[in-house]
Amino acid sequence: MKKLFGLLVFVALAAFVVACGSNNSDETSGNGGNSGDSGDNGGATGEVEIFSWWTGAGEEEGLLALIEQFEEEHSDITVENAAVAGGAGTNAKAVLATRMQGDDPPSTFQVHGGEELNKSWVAADKMQPLNDLFEKNEWMDKFPEDLIDLVSADGDIYSVPLNIHRGNPVFYNMEVFEEHGIEPPKTFDEFFDAAEKLQDAGVTPLALGDKESWPATQIFENVLLGVLGPDDYDKLFKGEIAFDDERVVEAAETFGKMLDYVNEDHSSRNWQDSAQLVSSGEAAMINMGDWAKGYFVNDLKMETNKDFGYFAFPETEGTFQIITDTFGLPKGVENPEEVKTFLTFLGSVEAQDTFNPIKGSIPARVDADPEKYDAYGQDTIEDFKTARLVPSLAHGSAASEGFLTKANQAVNIFVTQRDVDNFIQALQNAAPEM
Ligand code: GAL
Repeated sequence: MKKLFGLLVFVALAAFVVACGSNNSDETSGNGGNSGDSGDNGGATGEVEIFSWWTGAGEEEGLLALIEQFEEEHSDITVENAAVAGGAGTNAKAVLATRMQGDDPPSTFQVHGGEELNKSWVAADKMQPLNDLFEKNEWMDKFPEDLIDLVSADGDIYSVPLNIHRGNPVFYNMEVFEEHGIEPPKTFDEFFDAAEKLQDAGVTPLALGDKESWPATQIFENVLLGVLGPDDYDKLFKGEIAFDDERVVEAAETFGKMLDYVNEDHSSRNWQDSAQLVSSGEAAMINMGDWAKGYFVNDLKMETNKDFGYFAFPETEGTFQIITDTFGLPKGVENPEEVKTFLTFLGSVEAQDTFNPIKGSIPARVDADPEKYDAYGQDTIEDFKTARLVPSLAHGSAASEGFLTKANQAVNIFVTQRDVDNFIQALQNAAPEM
């Protein structure tokens, strides 16, 4: 509770500070309202702002490489990196909401394909369709159809997918597994056997850093996927299966059991801090989106399939928890043509093959070059072609932001109280907002 209150105060402060900052940017850019398409040159200003939460280790390098490459090719346009630090998106989303409501949108912003894009921004009539951009660049068959669907509403396309992250891998320390004779577990039973063995040997079985709730929500969504299977997982978030279904109760119990095997200081760590436990060998495994792979390789200098291995979260093999970072064109930007030039670049093979090997994700385009990716990336590119795709709740694709906020709160309370009935009740209560 104390933690939650602290977080709310922090988010409110961040929103206030940036709201003040954005007034200043109004003065310099003169972007005071819904100017829309203005004139033949698209209101050229020579500046494009990219808004994201990619500031920390493992997050920022890919973005900076993208910006540098774009500026090299477009000497007439400067890219302003407007990333907002802290909370792996929590703070950035609060700031974004303030700016969008105040008619001071960034030129383009990071948004997950699916409900986060659709329910938060498209439904509020804040985004411009990009069908012309997709047609002009002949992108319709360059991005998988399922992905185009995730960034579309009522036949219009609203953003350009830059990457595809996977939310259901488990990364593990290979030396620790070897030392304790552990094989990658495929089922929950195998997972708990391995966890018991590791715990007895004094190793933390599963690293968790839920300073922000989403890494715990991510574990829960993967347990749900494992217990329900992909079809019923989809039905749950379409409201066709209720949260008091006995299998959701079973998933909550399994999730609770997993929490018995996490590091004690989980609530004071962020995702990078918890991934470090796996790199040092204090913990054996972590369920984290594959931005952790980028962090392991680029920041912690670990080698894929030598220092760390990976497997699908128990009972989710053959499914792909999809998280896609996309960028669209908000209504009201004063230089839409320049922003489109930047979006065209984000959608290019070249940009995707610069960004994704660093970020740990795979390219959203089907015609990118697999040779640019390590063994993990190449496996994931292959899996993506055949796996059953499911949208992530924790990363905004499966349900609205309103539901996700409440689900994160419910998870946060469950992590400390472990009351399955209360947890299920809280999810049930939030369900109408999905
Ligand atoms: C996700 C985002 C990823 C990564 C991660 C951790 O929501 O899609 O790109 O940034 O958060 O910050």
